[in-house]
Amino acid sequence: MGTNDISILAIESSCDETSASIIVNGKVLNNIVATQSVHEKYGGVVPELASRAHQENLIPVIQEAISTSGISKEQLSAVAFTRGPGLMGSLLVGVSFAKAFARALNIPLIDINHMQAHVLAHFIEDPKPSFPFICLTVSGGHTQLVLVKDHLDMEVIGETQDDAVGEAFDKTAKLLGLPYPGGPLVDKYAKEGNPKAFTFPITRMPGLNYSFSGIKTAVLYYLRDRLQENPNFIEQNLPDLCASIQYTLIEMLLIKLKEAVKQYGVKEIAIAGGVSANSGLRAALTELSHRKGWNLYIPKFEYCTDNAAMIAMAAHYKYLKGEFVGMDVTPLAKMKL
Ligand code: KG4
Ligand code: ZN
Repeated sequence: MGTNDISILAIESSCDETSASIIVNGKVLNNIVATQSVHEKYGGVVPELASRAHQENLIPVIQEAISTSGISKEQLSAVAFTRGPGLMGSLLVGVSFAKAFARALNIPLIDINHMQAHVLAHFIEDPKPSFPFICLTVSGGHTQLVLVKDHLDMEVIGETQDDAVGEAFDKTAKLLGLPYPGGPLVDKYAKEGNPKAFTFPITRMPGLNYSFSGIKTAVLYYLRDRLQENPNFIEQNLPDLCASIQYTLIEMLLIKLKEAVKQYGVKEIAIAGGVSANSGLRAALTELSHRKGWNLYIPKFEYCTDNAAMIAMAAHYKYLKGEFVGMDVTPLAKMKL
């Protein structure tokens, strides 16, 4: 490690994943993630429990990131943290640690927007999209269409006005009696089902925006009526129900993506976020990309879900531009891109 090397410790603690990563000269060396299982029995993330778990997990996760990186903490050039958007209590744990660490080592502090980092996960490994590209970020907390003009120059061109698509997967899964998070299970059962077996309404919002709260209500009322006639309706139709719900959600995602491509004339297409693990979405996007001549980029799953490697990647670009923050920085639960 010479004096010109740029080595950064990055911390992610916006929701229920505690993560740390070391990046040296733009190359991610590791990505340590502690997943909080405490939320499973509550059927969703409990904010208060999330902050407590971050408090317990953060130091061990950071120690592991530093010790497996082969560099010492004295060699670090900066420390980066997720400033928002996210759960206030969870963010506070990461911000407070980062400030104390920066002060102790007398190194600069870099604040990162979590949504920008999801997009920059595409620069951790090859192949990397070229600018400008459109990124569809889909997870339990977010659904956004982003026009990416440069590493740090992004514009939200469409986003959900209510629930995120991952939330729609999880909430409808709950109605089917599946445990949290239900998204991966819907995906699993959908593989054996008929996507056209049941029809749920496609919500069409103005412009490139999304709305995913309607499907939950539609499924709720549909099931209520069917269950009155046949109490075993769900068990007898689980694969078809999952396939039909998944089909509807994917259709909604792709309708706006196609519109965005048309509107901006961009054929470099990327997806990010936990829902990009969905096999139906991957298959539909791959097929669409072949048909339309798009170049499609999907990061490794490890970099799709919440992780510190993407925070580290964003921090590297901000370091190069000298974009640091002072000790008075505070988290922004609703931070905008
Ligand atoms: O990015 P992520 O790990 O965390 C944030 O929400 O930021 O995304 C988690 C979301 C959950 O809603 C989960 O159900 C969904 O991603 N998910 C899936 C699949 N794998 C994860 N949804 C559908 N199909 C999947 N295979
Ligand atoms: Zn996220």
